[in-house]
Amino acid sequence: MDATPNTASAKLTVGDKSWDLPVRQGTIGPDVMDISKLYGQTGMFTYDPGFTSTASCESQITYIDGDEGVLLYRGYPIEQLAENGDFLETCYLLLYGELPTAAQKADFDLSVTRHTMVHDQMNRFFTGFRRDAHPMAIMVACVGALSAFYHDSTDISDPQQRLIASIRMIAKMPTLAAMAYKYHIGQPFVYPKNDLDYSSNFLNMCFAVPCEEYKVSPTLSKALDKIFILHADHEQNASTSTVRLAGSSGANPFACIAAGIACLWGPAHGGANEAALKMLSEIGHPERIPEFVNRAKDKNDPFRLMGFGHRVYKNYDPRAKIMQQTCHEVLSELGIKDDPLLDVAVELERVALHDDYFIEKKLYPNIDFYSGITLKAMGFPTAMFTVLFALARTVGWIGQWKEMIEDPGQRIGRPRQLYTGATRRDYVDMAKRK
Ligand code: CMC
Repeated sequence: MDATPNTASAKLTVGDKSWDLPVRQGTIGPDVMDISKLYGQTGMFTYDPGFTSTASCESQITYIDGDEGVLLYRGYPIEQLAENGDFLETCYLLLYGELPTAAQKADFDLSVTRHTMVHDQMNRFFTGFRRDAHPMAIMVACVGALSAFYHDSTDISDPQQRLIASIRMIAKMPTLAAMAYKYHIGQPFVYPKNDLDYSSNFLNMCFAVPCEEYKVSPTLSKALDKIFILHADHEQNASTSTVRLAGSSGANPFACIAAGIACLWGPAHGGANEAALKMLSEIGHPERIPEFVNRAKDKNDPFRLMGFGHRVYKNYDPRAKIMQQTCHEVLSELGIKDDPLLDVAVELERVALHDDYFIEKKLYPNIDFYSGITLKAMGFPTAMFTVLFALARTVGWIGQWKEMIEDPGQRIGRPRQLYTGATRRDYVDMAKRK
């Protein structure tokens, strides 16, 4: 499934000189002009802040068609994976490229399950934080700290160590995320239970307490598993590109994933579900929707409708459709008939989808629009939303990191710039400065 060799070329003309640029074709999606030799040939860089027209790598993991609203993991549509499989099956698929056989799945589940505990010394690490620390701050620190605990899987040149690091990360992330939550609310840590499936175990670690029995709801566990599948990978988004860039220097995988978590934290990326829920609460009632929609359209107001718009999707985000359905399932399981936030969300979506501004700019609800309401109903505080995103995205990050390290052509990532600062000038003695 390699990109086909150059079948065409593009001509670049600057003044009276021109150069042929090779054009490469993927299996699907737009062709790319290969400009890797451009600077050597022309002495010019390309300029693309935000990388809107730049393919930063070759990948075989995830494909998005933003115009059609399509998302494929290793070729399989997200809808089919979310409907028929479980999260660990998706992890296997993303890591190994194929759906597992029953024996491979059983083996994989067992390896992940056997790595769920974290080194006991990690408990002490937590106590260094203030109780009101944001759980994402704890995650950035604790995941980075894993490299201090698991030295035997930090040699990136050893394929076996790369694999063990990947399994460890998928297995320990729920444990660390639940610990961050428990620490935040002042409850004792709950150890992983290996007779529970991945998502049920996570719910148990978050919501069980030593003094009474906690029974995991199969409906909620299934819904959470679906949410994890939807968030598992999303090709070269900001946090994944951060992981690849950090990894390109040869940094160990735990440090690279910590870098990805830091990037995900921002409100334009993984922090959007928290921001979307805050916005829905601020709107408070469907009657106030026009006021907020007008603010979002006002060029002089920085306000944006959180959970709307996407760099790649210029159509309904396919994950948002599944998320909306999951949201209804969770609210009905919990017996929540009238949720004021859901009322606002449904009406806001309706208004925006019929508004010329949003139609013209192709701004549709993204995955974060309904995920906040769903996670809140499940009992997670807003500060945990991005942590859950990080937990699920870990497999995507680690899969993309592995793919990069295993690419024989891999080099350190080193973008260039268009310099617009001062030209050369001489140092001025302090006494003579104005
Ligand atoms: N509300 C109002 N206007 C918007 C919005 C919005 N949510 N999003 C984009 N626009 C407008 C924007 O003002 C701009 O208008 P103009 O062309 O007149 O200047 C136009 O649409 C294009 O926006 P952009 O900022 O150039 O687009 P981008 O591709 O750089 O940004 C985005 C994509 C997701 C950051 C942006 O749509 C946004 O800020 N959305 C709200 C935050 C959000 O929901 N983020 C979650 C993304 S999905 C989860 C993930 O991948 O992490």
